[in-house]
Amino acid sequence: MWKGRDVISIRDFSKKDIEHVLKTAEKLENELKEREALDYAKGKILATLFFEPSTRTRLSFESAMHRLGGNVIGFAEASTSSVKKGESLRDTIKTVEQYSDVIVIRHPKEGAARLAAEVAEIPVINAGDGSNQHPTQTLLDLYTIKKEFGKIDGLKIGLLGDLKYGRTVHSLSEALAFYDIELYLISPELLKMPRHIIEELREKGVKIYETSDLEKVIGELDLLYVTRIQKERFPDEQEYLKVKGSYVIDCALLARAKEGLKIMHPLPRVDEIHPEVDKSKHAIYFRQVFSGVPVRMALLGLTLGVVE
Ligand code: NCD
Repeated sequence: MWKGRDVISIRDFSKKDIEHVLKTAEKLENELKEREALDYAKGKILATLFFEPSTRTRLSFESAMHRLGGNVIGFAEASTSSVKKGESLRDTIKTVEQYSDVIVIRHPKEGAARLAAEVAEIPVINAGDGSNQHPTQTLLDLYTIKKEFGKIDGLKIGLLGDLKYGRTVHSLSEALAFYDIELYLISPELLKMPRHIIEELREKGVKIYETSDLEKVIGELDLLYVTRIQKERFPDEQEYLKVKGSYVIDCALLARAKEGLKIMHPLPRVDEIHPEVDKSKHAIYFRQVFSGVPVRMALLGLTLGVVE
């Protein structure tokens, strides 16, 4: 049952749940090819509460709700809300749910989305909580992989960059454990994937290789998922300076890659992918951005109970 469900962590979902979201997204994407806007969510209101910066996640949720025929309210900056006056998250959520049918929240603190879901009677969707989870990004990443490769099983996938603080790779690696893949975790020593996640993945049977040497493994990969070093999560600026600019993907490096290698990035990028790569056949990160709309339409439609 999807109606009324919260979307907080990828761990809360089975493979069947995930596949259902992807199938629903595909169905909605096809419907959009025939009609510009649908009316499944007519009369429904989405509230977007962004306590942290966002471009893609917020705008694609808003676009998705409009494409479903619904309406959107919300704030893009907590400083314009009563949070600035000292209101608690609990009170903010209790208030916003009087005005809306579904809430999307992004917050710098791990666990904030879970708290919001406990307080609210209406569905709450986590759009990123600190360095913890970003489940809707993961679903659009899986949708993109399926679309580009026609499958997920059998792929050799590299996750590159900030595997310690990056919430996108925490959620994504947990979801990939449902599939028969090999995972290359490529990061500076200081930014390795948390041990508890690696142990959990190994227990689920994922083959994992850890390295800091991208050049050594680039030729093996079918997919390289690049991430930004999450500067804002470092407790100490000096630590950030040690790893800043650790990897830069450019065309010279890609000369060693497989012909069919595809490069994804949740974006925003800083300097980890040289803009010259954008035109190469490997780059699919802007097509990945597009997937945000059908996948978030599916999530909104399912949790609102207006699509099956
Ligand atoms: C990511 C995030 O917010 O975690 N961005 C996104 O949602 N597309 C990645 C990042 O900020 O580096």
